[in-house]
Amino acid sequence: MQSKFLLPLAAAAVSFLTACSTPLPSSADLDKLTKDIVARSFRAEGQAQLDRVNPDEDNLLCSQADQSGNTIDEKLAAAVEARNMQTIKAPVDGKYLGDFKEGEKIAQSGSGKTWTDKADAANGGNCYNCHQISKEELSYGTLGPSLYNYGKMRGVTNPNSAESKPIVEYTWGKINNPRAYNACSSMPRFGHKGVLTEMQIKHVMALLLDPASPVNK
Ligand code: HEC
Repeated sequence: MQSKFLLPLAAAAVSFLTACSTPLPSSADLDKLTKDIVARSFRAEGQAQLDRVNPDEDNLLCSQADQSGNTIDEKLAAAVEARNMQTIKAPVDGKYLGDFKEGEKIAQSGSGKTWTDKADAANGGNCYNCHQISKEELSYGTLGPSLYNYGKMRGVTNPNSAESKPIVEYTWGKINNPRAYNACSSMPRFGHKGVLTEMQIKHVMALLLDPASPVNK
């Protein structure tokens, strides 16, 4: 009875040992394999284009640093920040703030950038996914700092005043391109990457900075 199992068992042991003696793929082999699988698995459609599969220079530098477990080199970080700072443009009409009610809707919405979104459809900002913003919303992520009382805590009583100009301009820049201030920020580059339109960014600005916004009550 026992001998019936012995032969297949011996065969299994031999093939196991053969598998063990095959050298493991190198990290470069695995990288290539992963790239090939990703390239075969994604197609460009609607708003979901293949540019997101191929990271730009800044994303590449930051993910290389993440993989190595080291932070990005200081000089490199300064270069990334300077390059991203160049992309920030002041609003065409000089007005930084829109309507905070619209801003709340944009901050709440996580839709957009998928295959099924029409090319000209507006995206959401998904801000609550990472930030607390108004006190009414109890469900929020904590990857980013709380933005509750954002304008109030920074003494913004009149966003159009010369006094408020630095914080208004900083907030505009940060939402447009967070990498300009923090090379490997995990916050999306909403303006630079065309996730939000200029008008949408103005609405979100009002949510954070308008003294009448519930965020500053
Ligand atoms: C994927 C997560 C993520 C999303 C989504 C996100 N943020 Fe952030 N945000 C962060 C992180 C992390 C920081 C802090 C690190 C940094 O400064 O880069 C930050 C910082 C900020 C700051 C600077 C705060 C300060 O005190 O200097 C502002 C303003 C801000 N976010 C606004 C927004 C707005 C508005 C949205 C939506 C349009 C948004 N964020 C969406 C992650 C996110």
